Amino acid sequence: MKIAVLPGDGIGPEIVAEAVKVLDALDLSFEMESALVGGAAFDAHGHPLPEATLQLAKDADATLFGAVGDWKYDTLDRPLRPEQAILGLRKNLGLFANFRPAICYPQLVDASSLKRDLVSGLDILIIRELTGDIYFGQPRGRRIATDGHFPGAEEAFDTMRYSRPEIERIAHVAFEAARKRKAAGGPGRVTSVDKANVLETFQFWKDIVTEVGAQYPDIALDHMYVDNAAMQLVKAPKKFDVVVTGNMFGDILSDAAAMLTGSIGMLPSASLNDRNQGLYEPSHGSAPDIAGKGLANPLATILSAAMMLRFSLNQEEAARRIESAVQAVLAQGLRTPDIWSEGTTKVGTAQMGDAVVQALG
Ligand code: NAD
Ligand code: IPM
Ligand code: MN
Repeated sequence: MKIAVLPGDGIGPEIVAEAVKVLDALDLSFEMESALVGGAAFDAHGHPLPEATLQLAKDADATLFGAVGDWKYDTLDRPLRPEQAILGLRKNLGLFANFRPAICYPQLVDASSLKRDLVSGLDILIIRELTGDIYFGQPRGRRIATDGHFPGAEEAFDTMRYSRPEIERIAHVAFEAARKRKAAGGPGRVTSVDKANVLETFQFWKDIVTEVGAQYPDIALDHMYVDNAAMQLVKAPKKFDVVVTGNMFGDILSDAAAMLTGSIGMLPSASLNDRNQGLYEPSHGSAPDIAGKGLANPLATILSAAMMLRFSLNQEEAARRIESAVQAVLAQGLRTPDIWSEGTTKVGTAQMGDAVVQALG
């Protein structure tokens, strides 16, 4: 089992170190190899996704990814910006299916900014299409003004685009996931989120999801406009089961859903291709505001490592050990600052990782 480890920028190296600590403690025979990515790779090699880093991820069974980005790179040309590294990995590996489970652990019901009744017992799954939509649509650009400078550009544009096969395959992923959850006691429901009232791309999306849905008579399908979905997510989040949506809407809705779990530092993710090769990363970014201070919550990354064991490495039991250990440390009252509340014990990034290792049993 070969794992590429790409810590990246900001809090990336701090949180990935804790996940690696937990993986090491499992005593399974992994081969882990690290490489630079994002701003760190740009500083060392002049490119955010060097060929060697991409090759490492391609050759691995799975990639454990931290985060990329920092304000100091904001003035670089777009192809050189750190964020292009994660987009390039997703595109090059064909990682079209992004799973972002929002689960509110019982120990954290009071960490959420919502009332406990709303989030208690919450277990929803956001499935975000990850290699299409306005993120990758062509053409894109800025029309440069006569003076040749971007500050004088006349207009800028990005193109929203989806093809039939792209929508079909993500729809199948969502219906299959709902079926699996139904077998485990879930309601068996897919909510497809779109903006069909305004955008052609999303009328097309809605039509095709409906077509695919006809092949899953055991699963209920409903459609919701994205603005309403954002509202319903904070009004009555437990009404959702599986949410499937495009790249852009999924990005936004998953950050909103993160707060239902207590903190963005709790939301893991898995990005899979059609060969179950995957990239695993927390849903949050590089958090430059708290980087290097030992304040970051490593649990989203540790839980992403658990997803990696489950989805790409066929180690279900080890995945569950990690998830149980995370719940155990929360039950002990240990909290990084983002999930801290009165009466619990504030710990740093490394202490949290150590506690998870201890709790593995
Ligand atoms: P962010 O997710 O990095 O941070 C948003 C807020 O959440 C900040 O206040 C931060 O301190 C907090 N936060 C995030 N993760 C946390 C954790 N584990 N523990 C505690 N607090 C945490 O989003 P941003 O500030 O908008 O973006 C910062 C940089 O990260 C940008 O360059 C952005 O492009 C990049 N980014 C990268 C990824 C990725 O690598 N996949 C994802 C999102 C953002
Ligand atoms: C995420 C991030 C990325 C995205 C950025 C950094 C490209 O926000 O993984 O959610 O928009 O997909
Ligand atoms: Mn995001």
